[in-house]
Amino acid sequence: MSLAYHQRSHTCGELRAAHVGQTVVLAGWVAVRRDLGGMVFIDLRDRYGVTQLKFNPETDPKAHAAARDLRSEDCICIRGNVVARGAAQINPKLPTGEIEIEVHEIDVLSRAETPPFEIVDDLTTNEDLRLKHRMLDLRRSTNQRRIIARHRITKVIRDYFDRHGFLDIETPILTKSTPEGARDYLVPSRLHHGTFYALPQSPQLFKQLLMMAGFDKYMQIARCFRDEDTRGDRQPEFTQVDIEMAFAQPETVMTHVEAAMAEVWKRMLGVDTPLPIPRMRYDDAMRDYGCDKPDLRFDMKIRDVSALAGRLDFNVFREPLSRGGCVRCIVVPGGGDMTDSQLKALTEEVKGIGAGGMPLAKVTHEGGKLGLNKGVAKFFNTDALVGELCEAAGAKPGDLILFAAGSEANVCKWLSWLRIELAHRRGLVPENEWRFCWIVDFPAFGWDEEARAIFPMHHPFTSPRDEDLHLMRLDQDEPPGRDDLLNIRAKAYDLVLNGYELGGGSIRIHRGDVQARVFQILGISEAEAKLKFEFLMEALKYAPPPHGGIALGLDRIVMLITGTDNIRDVIAFPKNAKAFCPLTNAPSEVSPEQLRELAIQIRE
Ligand code: AMO
Repeated sequence: MSLAYHQRSHTCGELRAAHVGQTVVLAGWVAVRRDLGGMVFIDLRDRYGVTQLKFNPETDPKAHAAARDLRSEDCICIRGNVVARGAAQINPKLPTGEIEIEVHEIDVLSRAETPPFEIVDDLTTNEDLRLKHRMLDLRRSTNQRRIIARHRITKVIRDYFDRHGFLDIETPILTKSTPEGARDYLVPSRLHHGTFYALPQSPQLFKQLLMMAGFDKYMQIARCFRDEDTRGDRQPEFTQVDIEMAFAQPETVMTHVEAAMAEVWKRMLGVDTPLPIPRMRYDDAMRDYGCDKPDLRFDMKIRDVSALAGRLDFNVFREPLSRGGCVRCIVVPGGGDMTDSQLKALTEEVKGIGAGGMPLAKVTHEGGKLGLNKGVAKFFNTDALVGELCEAAGAKPGDLILFAAGSEANVCKWLSWLRIELAHRRGLVPENEWRFCWIVDFPAFGWDEEARAIFPMHHPFTSPRDEDLHLMRLDQDEPPGRDDLLNIRAKAYDLVLNGYELGGGSIRIHRGDVQARVFQILGISEAEAKLKFEFLMEALKYAPPPHGGIALGLDRIVMLITGTDNIRDVIAFPKNAKAFCPLTNAPSEVSPEQLRELAIQIRE
């Protein structure tokens, strides 16, 4: 009987002591070969695990000779008997560690050249080289586990929404721009020279149209494309769990999302998530954590000390206060042990994100008395001031206080960065803790100081809260002024976990007049609105249901579940940090004929 790989009887992760005595056929890759003179041992690997093969020259000289010729990553198929390992040879770290296969027959299915890097878990090889040979990189078991986890997570989510009556409906990839705050990827049209499709930044408007069409519950695992700078948790091409519901309040959407997430965490990690997930107002998040995606696994809340700082004879504090800014601080527990050179280095880093410096003080306890030293200590020149500061900041002896003074936006940015960095560097972030949180009560609009323009905090289709609708002055021709606009709150919500924004959503505008007013507020002219959103404005004329939804970043969910902070680890074929694919060398030049067909000329 000849050896046939399609008759593979088991996987390389499957065999146990109970299989001893059986004849099996396995196929996989040579992970490790040990030639012990007489015997040859091979670790055979497939996606399910590793099984040890033994080639004995006495019993099977032909198979043994073939095994001596094998090299790492050769692809082989074998037939042999499952035998128990001697007590001393049992490998408790391997699920198949109690057995090995005495091989009688081997077929080398294909030979590998020497791989550019070893296929092992703890690999430090340059990432671009790994991405260039991604098929080899993906043979590593850490990567296999991540890709398999991604499949399972997606399945749990799909099943949850299917069980609750959501329909999976595909939306176009070649489409029109959907504004989500990034640059579009454009695709030139061959049939309509000079015109372009945009790849969707999200299926936002299509899912709204599906609600108008009567499909009241929609869920799609949707690919999205955004031409923005890549970061640890961002890719130009990523995947959303995209959800929309008609006749929904924020609570309707949030309840489904938290139940689905609780199911994912339970099924993947066995973790129970207490529901409902706590809600935090946007203003409170900004005040206490300086950002709208707070990591709640550690405390270190930001404290406002403006009133106290204003009484000090210290211009670094006074000057920003006189311009309407603020002085705030964080306390680093036990941070009094940080050396001058560590603090100097940290100051340089925080300067790198725009701060003028990093005023600081260490809290001491000498002669039975609370005191301060270093940095700005001398400006707190009475016991009463020291006591007041420690009280306001929540600091105790041995702690380090870090201040920031400036506009509220900058102070939030610098202290939020310091809070997170120091918590991580000083080991204050507990592992295996999952602190979900909803951020609610977002403002509808923000003010971009640089561009001197109003921008939508979520996207232009987000509904204002009913009680704030009057601030939009729908009865007047002109939109309201900036102050009124910045007081309008939105029916928007973000799901945050351990400092990551997992998802964002809102109840949408379903009234034509409100939508038109929002475009006007955002400085989108009537002509431009007609060009870009005529189909939406048209749809809004035919009794759209009230509706809302959310999109969750699937890649980020998989990152968190699989314990990596690099989004590329959880995508089978990702782009590198420069939005380039080292595997296929995309993007790449195209032929002159292709350009001619598209009526495109490349300028030097
Ligand atoms: P938003 O733009 O907030 O909302 O995106 C939703 C979620 O998608 C993830 N995400 C990303 N993940 C990886 N790489 C990126 N470049 C990237 N950009 C976003 C984040 C984010 O929370 N249409 C709205 C949703 C809605 O209103 O229903 C939208 O796309 O986890």
